[in-house]
Amino acid sequence: MKLKRNKSIGIFDSGFGGLNIMKEIVKELPEYDYVYLGDTARVPYGGRSKEVVYDFVKEAVDFLFKNNCELIIVACNTASSDALHKIQQEHLKKYKNKKVLGVIIPVVEHTSLITKNKRVGVIATEGTVLSKSFPREFSKLDSDIKIFQKACPLLVPIIEAGEHNSLWTDLILENYLRELIKKDIDTLVLGCTHYRILEKKIKNVTGKKIKIISEGKVVADKLKDYFKRHKEIEKVLSKKGKREFNSTDTIDKFEKLGSKFFGEKIKVKKVKIN
Ligand code: DGL
Repeated sequence: MKLKRNKSIGIFDSGFGGLNIMKEIVKELPEYDYVYLGDTARVPYGGRSKEVVYDFVKEAVDFLFKNNCELIIVACNTASSDALHKIQQEHLKKYKNKKVLGVIIPVVEHTSLITKNKRVGVIATEGTVLSKSFPREFSKLDSDIKIFQKACPLLVPIIEAGEHNSLWTDLILENYLRELIKKDIDTLVLGCTHYRILEKKIKNVTGKKIKIISEGKVVADKLKDYFKRHKEIEKVLSKKGKREFNSTDTIDKFEKLGSKFFGEKIKVKKVKIN
């Protein structure tokens, strides 16, 4: 049987934050075709229940597989925390040979090699923190690593409103980060797609001694490595350098803020996934 070689890589996030993960992936692996989906009609996922997030992610996965994706990266931390395991164990049975990967495990693997004093801070949405996905994955790798989590529910709405450069963002960050700094962490994971845009401001608060881990580059490197180990997937992927961007709500804001996250102008299509 002849192999079909026209398959894309799907990247999914609750909104446009995942575009900075896609930016790093595309930088590392430019030859492949990509289909991005941002569920802007239902963002933020961060304060929603596990069950609701699972149903949303299932619809996103179905959409991307229907749109010719062979492999999906769930760039959203909340979705990776609340839904990925069940998607892989149950929902994927419907799709022979297709794969869905998340962001938590690659970031945990990377961070566990970076921390020297084995005291790591994680900032994320409420959903991600409540799921305990980060502490769970760290403890599987190295039970000596101590994790200090802090949910930062105000950050995503501020970023979605395009107000991340405001003075009140500095105040909010100081408040959120103060208790983590007191825990003597040497590494801080930005466990949410949106926070990359705040990296400079976060560094201003944490100072030089704390190493900041933002996810894009880590996920891109791990995906490159994954393709080396999984030639059966890599070889069916199309290499025409195509990029397609989809949003479940109006596209104006998505194009404007999304272009900032992606680092270049993007053209977005509005789609229905449920
Ligand atoms: N994409 C989500 C994450 O990485 C943040 C936005 C949301 O709450 O949906 O956790």
